[in-house]
Amino acid sequence: MSTIIVTGGAGFIGSNFIYYLLKNHPDDRIVCIDCLTYAGNLSTLQAALENTNFVFYKTNICDRAGVDSIFEKEHPDIVVNFAAESHVDRSIEHPEVFLQTNILGTQVLMDACRKYGIKRYHQVSTDEVYGDLPLDRPDLLFTEETPIHTSSPYSASKAAADLLVLAYHRTYQLPVSISRCSNNYGPYHFPEKLIPLMIVNALHDKPLPVYGEGKNVRDWLYVEDHCRAIDLIVRNGREGEVYNIGGHNEMANIDIVKLICDILGKPHSLIRFVKDRKGHDMRYAIDPSKIHKELGWLPETKFADGLQKTVQWYLTHQDWWEPILSGEYKLYYQKMYGDR
Ligand code: NAD
Ligand code: TYD
Repeated sequence: MSTIIVTGGAGFIGSNFIYYLLKNHPDDRIVCIDCLTYAGNLSTLQAALENTNFVFYKTNICDRAGVDSIFEKEHPDIVVNFAAESHVDRSIEHPEVFLQTNILGTQVLMDACRKYGIKRYHQVSTDEVYGDLPLDRPDLLFTEETPIHTSSPYSASKAAADLLVLAYHRTYQLPVSISRCSNNYGPYHFPEKLIPLMIVNALHDKPLPVYGEGKNVRDWLYVEDHCRAIDLIVRNGREGEVYNIGGHNEMANIDIVKLICDILGKPHSLIRFVKDRKGHDMRYAIDPSKIHKELGWLPETKFADGLQKTVQWYLTHQDWWEPILSGEYKLYYQKMYGDR
């Protein structure tokens, strides 16, 4: 039985990871640290809160005293850091909080790990640290050896954190690992991101804003497959190593938006091509052969099935996303898309 700190557990992937752990490792104690930014939602963790092996702390990972006191009380064996500012578009508007949470927050967590001792610190990173790939070179994929080459304040902050994690391993022998995953989709995805935004807008017969020409490609992975990969790395992956996670599922944005329209029975005429994102990365594509060879991981959910399941989830969980649309999100949407 282990005690596992999961930071950012009230967000999209962190909450899915908590439910994955509660289901697959029912004897483990899960300690969630989340300060509930606009992207964090305690209602997501409602079912977890009923489990006696789960505890929630509303704490900012940059708050050193707060983080230390949780480590002192809970004696974690493993720390998995999901807490981050995660939206590229917001990072272009306001970079500073990205640097604070994503870099300095990582430092605070690792300092606590050094002070109190842990078996593993795992950093949840992103394929965006590798920059982008051209559309006309489908043979090129990101490997763990691809140089770091970032485009947005978000990806730069994640890359800086990765370098700090590797430095703590080399300098202080902190037992770390890093995973770099491609774009996730699934339940509890905040509706500012492509897939949930398009589902929610289409359900309201609102315009579907596709940046540029919609040709940008992302490599989509169902969130539960990502959670299983992290769990494997944390328990069986080698210390000091980076593992890429991806599903060999490259899709152009426009094709995804059309698929969502088709699943919902909405017309493609809802699609609007709008002003492109600044510095917009063209293509992400992961080579996941290292995690496959070393840990036997393969994605299990096919994109067509995962997208169906995801749309179905949004159809049956309006009580989760409706309140989000009426709050800060409304102002955000107006600002980002109002006269785009
Ligand atoms: P998210 O924005 O949905 O959730 C982030 C969570 O972190 C929220 O609950 C928020 O309240 C919390 N948080 C933010 N700042 C905090 C702070 N200072 N202290 C404590 N809690 C804080 O993000 P997500 O999509 O679930 O991403 C989780 C992690 O996975 C991130 O590190 C992200 O970089 C990485 N990642 C995401 C994707 C993806 O497709 N979403 C892909 C690869 C990697
Ligand atoms: P996003 O979900 O923000 O993830 P990321 O930028 O981290 O890959 O966006 C996925 C892709 O969809 C990206 O190429 C930008 C594009 N996009 C749109 O075309 N319209 C939108 O309204 C959003 C949010 C994203």
